Amino acid sequence: MATRKLFLLPGDGIGPETMAEVSKLIAVMNTEMDAGFETEVGLVGGAAYDAHGEAISDADMERALAADAVLFGAVGGPKWESVPYEQRPEAGLLRLRKEMELFANLRPAICYPALAESSSLKKEVIEGLDILIVRELTGGVYFGEPKEIVEIGNGQKRAVDTQVYDTFEIERIAGVAFELARTRRNKVCSMEKHNVMKSGVLWKEVVTATHEAKYADVELTHMLADAGGMQLVRWPKQFDVIVTDNLFGDMLSDVAAMLTGSLGMLPSASLGAPEASTGKRKALYEPVHGSAPDIAGQSIANPIAMIASFAMCLRYSFNMVAEAGRLEKAIAAVLEDGFRTRDLMSDGMREVSTSAMGDAVVQKFRELSA
Ligand code: IPM
Ligand code: MG
Repeated sequence: MATRKLFLLPGDGIGPETMAEVSKLIAVMNTEMDAGFETEVGLVGGAAYDAHGEAISDADMERALAADAVLFGAVGGPKWESVPYEQRPEAGLLRLRKEMELFANLRPAICYPALAESSSLKKEVIEGLDILIVRELTGGVYFGEPKEIVEIGNGQKRAVDTQVYDTFEIERIAGVAFELARTRRNKVCSMEKHNVMKSGVLWKEVVTATHEAKYADVELTHMLADAGGMQLVRWPKQFDVIVTDNLFGDMLSDVAAMLTGSLGMLPSASLGAPEASTGKRKALYEPVHGSAPDIAGQSIANPIAMIASFAMCLRYSFNMVAEAGRLEKAIAAVLEDGFRTRDLMSDGMREVSTSAMGDAVVQKFRELSA
């Protein structure tokens, strides 16, 4: 039996509640489908800060690096608002991304047919939506130096963040986007701000050159990131794959999440480069929603983004393509049956708890696997 090493980092807020639903799936896959998952659980974010005074310990960092895949819940909350900047909960996630070199963040926004009514946008705008945001994740303003607040005299301070991209960083993320586009509708739209930013000028230049050199069969368009945000809510179905930098990707993917009905629906995969000898890549899977402290502990959080992140893990880390497909089908079927967590609730539907939603998905998944 294969051994598949999973490292679970539930984190803060609704992270643990939603991760618990994935743990149910893992248990069922082990006992009924011989999946051979071995799991370890660690601490990240505020939970890690409370235990060891830092947002992730070196020991947990090592476990993350040694695992076949990391499943990540969410970090942060008002409790840690005044924690020093270096130890703030988000620093744990950023350290994982950086040290695991997870430069490619895949955020698929799919509108399940049953949820076409739940979005704040008109049904015809989002019905059948299936787009993929490819966000650069280890560069740009998130990590650029200097990053500081300095005293400049006269009681004034100056805050500096640095947006910086090298050619190879743009080339490799563009490559990921083009490769993925070939498995979909073969279209890439690159978003940047070359009208005001040098990093945008280079971004556009390198994406264009990468396209000409290796991916001329894919349809490439460019859009300024602000216009891209507008087009995402105006007519999102014009897009197939969107490739963009770390900060624009953060913002545009929250916009895209609302197209799917709720922020609680959007999964993500963060991938490193394939190792030359084995083809294996480091990977972390996380829902796009945050820790949602306002609803934590009430068992009303939507576990679907977390479960769908696990489906991405099955597909990208373990090549369990059939299982991933069945899990996604199970989610669609449960929504079709009218199950809704509060964030998705509408007239005539059945409001269920986090754990009842998880149970329903597990049950459907077992039926589909039988
Ligand atoms: C995300 C989140 C993170 C980010 C936070 C939690 C640091 O918003 O994954 O989109 O800004 O990247
Ligand atoms: Mg974000």
